[in-house]
Amino acid sequence: MNRLRILGALSLCFLLASCGAKEEYKYLVGFSQCNLAEPWRQAMNAAVKKEAANHPDMKIIYADAHQDNDEQVSQIRSFLTQKIDLLMVSPNEAAPLTPAVREVYNAGIPVVVIDRAIAGDSYTCFVGGDNKEIGRKAGEFIAEVLQGKGNIVEIKGLAGSPPAIDRSLPMREVLARYPDIKIIAEFEARWLRDEANQQFPSVLQANEDIDLVYAHNDPMAMGAYLAAKNVGREKDILFIGVDGLPGPDGGAKMVLDGILTATFYYPNCGKEAVQIAAKILNGETVEKNISLDTPVITKENAQQFYQP
Ligand code: FRU
Repeated sequence: MNRLRILGALSLCFLLASCGAKEEYKYLVGFSQCNLAEPWRQAMNAAVKKEAANHPDMKIIYADAHQDNDEQVSQIRSFLTQKIDLLMVSPNEAAPLTPAVREVYNAGIPVVVIDRAIAGDSYTCFVGGDNKEIGRKAGEFIAEVLQGKGNIVEIKGLAGSPPAIDRSLPMREVLARYPDIKIIAEFEARWLRDEANQQFPSVLQANEDIDLVYAHNDPMAMGAYLAAKNVGREKDILFIGVDGLPGPDGGAKMVLDGILTATFYYPNCGKEAVQIAAKILNGETVEKNISLDTPVITKENAQQFYQP
């Protein structure tokens, strides 16, 4: 009898505790991150966590898809079964992720897409840095620094992720005006430093005369730089990246150290995404597409972007 009473009291406590926990938040938000192994994405998650602390009515659950489309699709579907009130998602690749994001949106759940777009318009809000602007500014910077003449290598991000296309085409459009600038090699390193590091040696071997490497992000620029350094050629080549993270291993420091000639600051949008989510959940309307500035970082201003 006594035992039963204790058991009863215990389960009542448990019930109360779990009810209490539930009442601490009003909205459940699923955040689907395509890959947490890269520093820029770790910075995004950190920014999300920090901003979420200002919104106690929101509980955010996190998923990391390890750069795998199928994994990200199933994580998004699992959010649906967990009855999220809003989805925040930074998709790995556009085409494979679009149907799952559309399912969520069509179920009446608002969707905030961050940094990498999906296909079509089945989302509530997209927030990201302006990648076409990065491409255009990169082209202009390259033309200027090479004084209209030179051989360049382009190291591309994952082909199915829109920033890889947007950072490339406008750059090529600008450089088409400079007949003496030639893109002599290009390869896809899927945003990863190690892949750039592994693939660049064969480009070095095949091309004696490389003036500049334009990599779609700083880790790939660094991977290529280290490969060039390995064969004593890093001083003959200029390296340009994108991201400009502020930390001791980030792009701003690489510019200060003379490893990169320039990078473009690419805002991670974590803070903005949470603020947008909060507005949507509070019934406010938000703009459908929000794009943030991507200033160039060179030796002149790198110190301002560096936060050791
Ligand atoms: C990280 C990253 C960044 C890049 C962004 C583009 O996954 O590769 O370095 O700027 O994604 O979506």
